[in-house]
This record gives sequence, structure tokens and C-alpha cells, in this order.
Amino acid sequence: MSVFVTRRIPAEGLRVLSQASGCRIHQWDSEEPVPRAELLSGVAGKHGLLCLLSDRIDREVLEAAGPGLKVISTMSVGFDHLALEEIKKRGIRVGYTPDVLTDATAELSVALLLAACRRLPEAVEQVKSGGWTTWKPLWMCGYGLSDSTVGIIGLGRIGQAVARRLKPFGVKKFLYTGSRPKPESAAEFEAEFVPLRRLAEESDFVVVTCALTPATQEMCNKDFFSRMKKTSVFINTSRGAVVNQEDLYDALAHGQIAAAGLDVTTPEPLPTDHPLLSLKNCVILPHIGSATYATRSTMAVLAANNLLAGLRGEPMPHELLL
Ligand code: NDP
Ligand code: DGY
Repeated sequence: MSVFVTRRIPAEGLRVLSQASGCRIHQWDSEEPVPRAELLSGVAGKHGLLCLLSDRIDREVLEAAGPGLKVISTMSVGFDHLALEEIKKRGIRVGYTPDVLTDATAELSVALLLAACRRLPEAVEQVKSGGWTTWKPLWMCGYGLSDSTVGIIGLGRIGQAVARRLKPFGVKKFLYTGSRPKPESAAEFEAEFVPLRRLAEESDFVVVTCALTPATQEMCNKDFFSRMKKTSVFINTSRGAVVNQEDLYDALAHGQIAAAGLDVTTPEPLPTDHPLLSLKNCVILPHIGSATYATRSTMAVLAANNLLAGLRGEPMPHELLL
């Protein structure tokens, strides 16, 4: 079994592969993404591919790999970087890493929400720059969660974990939207299933935790932001492409909404001269939702075990059913 690993990954994951008998590892052993040409040559003739969300696995890659490729294991729960139709056509199995990153990502979503609504980066900057002259009744005020309505776009694993963490802050009402109502998941929060429009109109906080699909692409656009309250806060920890960033910029710059917090953008990394970075009311993080040491290590081990199980023709710990 020969496998191509597209990046330096936590040592625990690589160890699982190197201890597996008969597994020959070829790796792009760098912190930086594998250049496309190296990906195409690296995958050629391999039986397994362990990739990351930054690797676009499309027809070109599958053709470069050749008919021997049996398994693709992504070290992510998101799989929008994988050309699933092409993969399915070739009978290739796919592993991914749900559940193990839910807590870390939900925690980061809450941190980002608090940072955006209570203006933490702006306040820290004021302390450093001497803008803090005295305690002022009208200065650095933001919006709190107490008695608020929180709208969750995509009440999946992460969406529910966010709601669970926000509830003790005194949230009055949870709304959610998705492709269908999920009464079993919503019961814990007494969350109400509503159309997207209503979620935009009634929420004080909108948290996006859905998967990126053709249906969710640019779902948060001019129409969506224009329906939000001027005092509302928008948080996205799913994928950048769920948002139309020009429309978000206009909404933030013209006071259509109060603030935003983004862990994901288009593109990634966001160019340092991007207009969104000029706004005080927009907090942007570099896609660190799952970035705790323990979570990344667990993700790497799971991705390695998915790969090995697939190569051996066994059930994977987490297989994406195509
Ligand atoms: P789940 O599959 O559990 O949840 C995805 C949710 O997306 C489902 O509840 C689904 O709802 C919802 N969804 C699908 N279509 C729509 C739609 N048209 N409108 C609204 N919601 C929709 O996945 P996870 O919670 O585990 O992960 C969610 C996403 O978070 C990942 O796909 C990934 O992109 C992102 N992520 C980002 C991280 C980061 O570092 N920032 C870390 C981890 C994940 P329904 O069932 O009703 O279709
Ligand atoms: C994922 O897993 O999809 C995240 O974006 C990174 O952990």
C-alpha cells in the first residue's frame, strides 16, 4: 500500500501510518500547502491519499493518481474541496473527521461571537494606542447575549454545540434553518425552524455553521444582510463561500448590521489589503476553529485510521457515504 500525505501533520497521525505493516508513505513534509505540480506527481500510482481542506481534489488529481487510488482521507469534516461525483464514479472511498472537532470549533465560534459583539480587538487596540483616557459611559459599548435571539444556519453537530454553549448566557430564543426541520436536535434548545428570511429579520446574532454546498453558496448576501437588524451581529465559522463578502462589506460599512466575526473567508488567506480588514466592526481569524493541539492530533489519528481501514477494505471509523 503506498500513500501520499499532502502536508506535515501531527506526529501521532503519521505514527499510525508508519506503524502499519506494508504502508509506504510519501509525504509533502512542509507546513505550507503542496504545490499543485507536486500534488499531481506525488499522488501518481498511490493507493491512498491523505489530504487537507486546502487541497482541491478534482478530476485532474484523480486522473494523475490513476486507477490504483482506492481511498481519500481528508483531515477535515468539511468536504467541499473534494469532487465527490468524480470520486464516486471511480469507486474511491472517502474518510473524514466529524465529531472530534465539534467542541473546539463550537468553543471558537463562541469566542469569536463575544469578540465581535463586545468589540474586544478594538478595545485591546485602544489600550495599546493610548485611546483609553478614562472610564466613559458611552465608550466601547457593544451588544450582549442576555435576552437575545440567536439564529443558527445549519443546526448540525457544530451548530448544536454552539447553541449548547450560548444557552447559559441567557439567550431568550433560538431560531434555526436548514434543508429540513430537525425536531430531535432542536428540542434541547426549544429552537424554532424558520425560513432564512425570518432568521435574518428576527435574530440579534446569526451564527453560520452549515456545510458549503451549491444551496448554501453565497446564501448570506445583500438580500440577507438587508433584512438583518442594525444592531445584529453576524458570525461565520463554516466556509467563506457561504457569504458574499462584497455584500457583507457594504452591510458593515454602511451600518446595516453592527458587527461580524469570520473564521473563514474567500480566499484563504485573505489578502492583507482586503477591504474587510479595514473595518473596525469586523473581526477576522485565520480559520482556527479546530486549532487546539488535542483536536488536531485526534483529527490526524482519525484521518490515518480512516485511510488504513479503507486500504484494507475494512469499515472506516468515519466514512463519508457517497
Ligand atoms: P454537520 O453535517 O453536522 O452540519 C452541517 C449542517 O449544514 C447540517 O445541519 C445541515 O442541515 C446544514 N445545511 C445543509 N444545507 C443547508 C442549507 N441549505 N441551509 C442551511 N443549512 C444547511 O457538519 P458539522 O456541524 O460537523 O460541520 C459543519 C461545517 O463546519 C463543515 O462542513 C465545515 O465546513 C465547517 N467547519 C469549520 C471549521 C473551522 O475551522 N472554522 C471546523 C469544522 C467544521 P440539514 O441537515 O438540515 O441539511
Ligand atoms: C474542517 O474540518 O472542515 C475545518 O474547516 C478545519 O478543521
